Amino acid sequence: MATPHIAAEKGDFAKTVLMPGDPLRSQFIAETYLENRRLVNNVRGVQGYTGTYKGVPVSVMASGMGMPSIGIYSYELYQFFGVENILRVGTIGGMRGDLRIGDVLLAQGACTNGNFGVQYGVQGAFAPIADFTLLRAAADIADERGLRYMVGNVFSSDIFYNDDEHVTANWQKLGVLGVEMEAAALYMNAARSGKRALAVCTVSDNLVTGEAAGSAERQTAYRDMMELALEVAVRMN
Ligand code: HPA
Repeated sequence: MATPHIAAEKGDFAKTVLMPGDPLRSQFIAETYLENRRLVNNVRGVQGYTGTYKGVPVSVMASGMGMPSIGIYSYELYQFFGVENILRVGTIGGMRGDLRIGDVLLAQGACTNGNFGVQYGVQGAFAPIADFTLLRAAADIADERGLRYMVGNVFSSDIFYNDDEHVTANWQKLGVLGVEMEAAALYMNAARSGKRALAVCTVSDNLVTGEAAGSAERQTAYRDMMELALEVAVRMN
């Protein structure tokens, strides 16, 4: 059974899917952590793998960048491939001066400047939120592992190179922790599908201090985030 963007069979994906933005990171997660892994999708080079982590079936597939892209892949996984849980594992630009490179942000809510929610026809703006079971599991695991993390709102932007010089300050006034480009659409697709989603993000740069991760720092930070998400997958089994 193939969809326009995923050439796989219905049983090819595990109940829980980790979604990095980057296909190479998907391959890295599969090769580093998944046993008995097999490639289940490679349409457009968007590699999807299914294997086991600590004996639990887990899949990993890239989302691409931005809400249109994660909107397509998460919709097809939830609606056509029986996926129950999607954990976005990505980077985020910190919007608070006290966030350090490598800190983990658990996106409890996701504000957006995008129009993804307009399709639902509600009078007002739907508030995209994480699934509480996934969020609680992730926070528990982050505590157990002694990770530096925060739980709160993020901003899912349609624009990376934003001409509005006040954008960071304006979201910051509302207590928003960081900016990425996917969580809100993922959360809306989960809500519409009656499924679960959580975005687990690593701070890769800080928009207030101008600090940015070096490549070594990035790698360890990403591994903390990936292992956190994999442990959530185990608890959701
Ligand atoms: N903007 C949008 N997405 C991001 C950023 C950013 O500054 N950093 C990491 N992901």
